[in-house]
Amino acid sequence: MTENVISPAEPKYTRQTVLSSRIWSSEKLFSVRVTRDPAFEFIPGQFARLGLAILPSEPDIPTEWRAYSMVSHPEEDALEFFSVVVPDGKFSPALARLQAGDPLWIDKTSFGFLTLERFIDGEDLWLIATGTGLSAYLSMLQDPQTRLRFKRIIVVHGVQYAHELAYREDILRIGTKYAPNQLLYIPITSQEHTAPELSPALTSLTAPSRITTLLDDGELEHRVGIALDPSRSRIMLCGNPAMVADMRSRLTSMGFAPGRRGVAGNMAVENYW
Ligand SMILES: Cc1cc2nc3c(=O)[nH]c(=O)nc-3n(C[C@H](O)[C@H](O)[C@H](O)COP(=O)(O)OP(=O)(O)OC[C@H]3O[C@@H](n4cnc5c(N)ncnc54)[C@H](O)[C@@H]3O)c2cc1C
Ligand SMILES: NC(=O)c1ccc[n+]([C@@H]2O[C@H](COP(=O)([O-])OP(=O)(O)OC[C@H]3O[C@@H](n4cnc5c(N)ncnc54)[C@H](OP(=O)(O)O)[C@@H]3O)[C@@H](O)[C@H]2O)c1
Repeated sequence: MTENVISPAEPKYTRQTVLSSRIWSSEKLFSVRVTRDPAFEFIPGQFARLGLAILPSEPDIPTEWRAYSMVSHPEEDALEFFSVVVPDGKFSPALARLQAGDPLWIDKTSFGFLTLERFIDGEDLWLIATGTGLSAYLSMLQDPQTRLRFKRIIVVHGVQYAHELAYREDILRIGTKYAPNQLLYIPITSQEHTAPELSPALTSLTAPSRITTLLDDGELEHRVGIALDPSRSRIMLCGNPAMVADMRSRLTSMGFAPGRRGVAGNMAVENYW
């Protein structure tokens, strides 16, 4: 007679180790690099579920989980995440306190549909984000597929203050791998003037604004020098759900729509909360 042995279920996650962290804006924005399980696969634009052992009585059991987009490219050995600190949040302040050597648990599965696979064609790729919503695009920008598939890639990043324009220099550096003017970087600051030094795409000091306002008054297309056109523009929206909803309704009235079963779309969105 064979004994019925019940083996403990294999955990759905792996324990990784923090390699380094970087503060972008004191008390508010930081990024963290961690080791990567070689079996963890993802497509640029996808997110991971990160786990932290929050209970002091259970230092080796992750009890709190949150979604974070991968900033790093799938070919890198390490994973990088970019995060805001929500002062009274359960997760992000603890994530911000992590130091090299600390554990971070990562679900073995990657998730999400904010990937280039959402579009089957298109000439101009508009990657529009507020705050940490930029994370989802950083991996994509490093992917050769992005510059091979699209004639122009426009990164629009809306933040409150210029010092919150994290990864600005990285984006400009990545742009040197693209054809001249193929990658355009449009920073938008809502609580202070936007200085022209922030990007070669800006020509003068401009008043504080939001992405939605710049779309309404035609200034967004003017700064980019390209019109939004449902037949050739492909748009991603990521970050603050209010921005995503407000932009989505404006773009819908211009003829943009997400894909449906069997019908390719020209707009893809991801809300961060
Ligand atoms: C698909 C997906 C991907 C995500 N990727 C990222 C990422 O790459 N980087 C990141 O920082 N967060 C990301 N988030 C949000 C993240 O999962 C957490 O919600 C966030 O880090 C705050 O966690 P918390 O427990 O401290 O606060 P929570 O209790 O989770 O959130 C409290 C409040 O904080 C605000 N908030 C939450 N997230 C943000 C944010 N990112 N920026 C500004 N305000 C916020 C909202 O008002 C929210 O209601 C993502 C969320 C989703 C659903
Ligand atoms: N000093 C701080 O502010 C501070 C410090 C530590 C932590 N935090 C935490 O940081 C979080 C906020 O982070 P964040 O500033 O990166 O994110 P955010 O509040 O989403 O703001 C990012 C950008 O999106 C703009 N925006 C918001 N709603 C919009 C809409 N409907 N349409 C178009 N644009 C819109 C904002 O403009 P507006 O500026 O006009 O709203 C801002 O330029 C809060 O959860 C807070 O707890 C804040």
